[in-house]
Amino acid sequence: MRTQVAIIGAGPAGLFLSHLLHLQGIESTVIEIRSRADIEATIRAGVLEQGTMDLLTETGVGERMRAEGALHHGFELAFGGRRHRIDLQGLTGKSITVYPQHEVIKDLVAARLAAGGDLRFEVSNVAVDRIDSSNPIVRFDHQGASHQIEADFVVGCDGFHGVSRPAIPASLREDYQRIYPFGWFGILVESAPSSDELIYAQHDRGFALISTRTPTVQRLYFQCDPTDHVDNWSDDRIWNELHTRVENTDGWRLNEGKIFQKGIIGMRSFVSAPMRCGRLFLAGDAAHIVPPTGAKGMNLAISDVNILSKALGQFYRQGSEQGLDTYSDEALKRVWRAEYFSWYMTSMLHTFADATPFERQMQRAQLDNVVNSRALATALAENYVGAF
Ligand code: FAD
Ligand code: DHB
Repeated sequence: MRTQVAIIGAGPAGLFLSHLLHLQGIESTVIEIRSRADIEATIRAGVLEQGTMDLLTETGVGERMRAEGALHHGFELAFGGRRHRIDLQGLTGKSITVYPQHEVIKDLVAARLAAGGDLRFEVSNVAVDRIDSSNPIVRFDHQGASHQIEADFVVGCDGFHGVSRPAIPASLREDYQRIYPFGWFGILVESAPSSDELIYAQHDRGFALISTRTPTVQRLYFQCDPTDHVDNWSDDRIWNELHTRVENTDGWRLNEGKIFQKGIIGMRSFVSAPMRCGRLFLAGDAAHIVPPTGAKGMNLAISDVNILSKALGQFYRQGSEQGLDTYSDEALKRVWRAEYFSWYMTSMLHTFADATPFERQMQRAQLDNVVNSRALATALAENYVGAF
């Protein structure tokens, strides 16, 4: 089979790219190893930056996000027994929306299928070939048969563990990485939100985050050993840990409820550069990973494919490769700023077991500075809403 752009992976990057290309009259095929039901049910990120919200709206896939997502104009930093509000709207004129990633996925799959898009789920044995020619190919198995897509371009949107990045010879890319000595224990809870806004809490026992999903479901996280196992954590133990880490002296209480999902995620910072080799382009987690503290992962994936779709549009409309040639540099500029912000938030809010007493005092002084300086709070808010 033949298409203009072969897209590997139906995460936010792959699906949104296919949608953006369709809006420009460019044909694509998306192949995905998991089932539609699986990608539409996997719990991941929750925060959409203002720019992501605007893009989804402008491209006609933001209706449910606007109706069902929760618009947040600020969030809180909790430490030293007190909560401090970061006024995103007041400091930057922008806000964020809490709308789960799997709902974005559902909206994008529905839009692609309604437009007759070519999405193939549950494929296997995916391989990329001839990326240094003008007609690269993607091979895969589907429903018991072997297939081959011939395309003008291949875009690897297959996440950190996909096959696209390894298809670029190691000698042609530079990988940058930091692995953190902790992970996040995430739970979903049946209960009303404990707070109207997200709370990022720093505590000697470790970081904790209070987020929401719907008016009846809370999303809560706390720092844990990345090698720990969910079976070691009874509901009682989880609630004790969360109460200790997030409750302050102001009388605010965390709502408990039935815990119906538990999971542990590891944390790393990772960038592979450049995000292109010949006719193979990388976007989203296939090229870079951030620790979740800055809530940037999905937003970066959306931003990458927005840049790439414009470059592909320029190629097909004007025959110009200029945008394709600058894609990697342009995307990486934003990626490195988000890497910095995610590392900064992670370092400022987590407990490092090997920190000296001096380093712990520096961490507390850093938080004090942020909440007492309008300049520092503005810089934090600008990064959080993605105002760059
Ligand atoms: P992905 O969403 O990973 O999509 C890649 C897709 O490619 C997947 O559907 C995968 O099945 C498919 N695929 C893989 N290999 C192949 C192959 N060989 N062939 C075809 N398809 C393939 N970010 C936050 O900001 N906050 C969070 O709380 C948060 N939680 C997370 C929890 C988990 C468990 C994970 C893994 C990530 C989390 N992230 C979070 C990060 C955020 O979800 C990602 O940055 C975002 O999903 C990136 O989108 P993507 O489209 O680039 O990649
Ligand atoms: C959520 C995840 C994050 O990584 C974050 O910084 C804020 C909220 C969430 O899943 O709701």
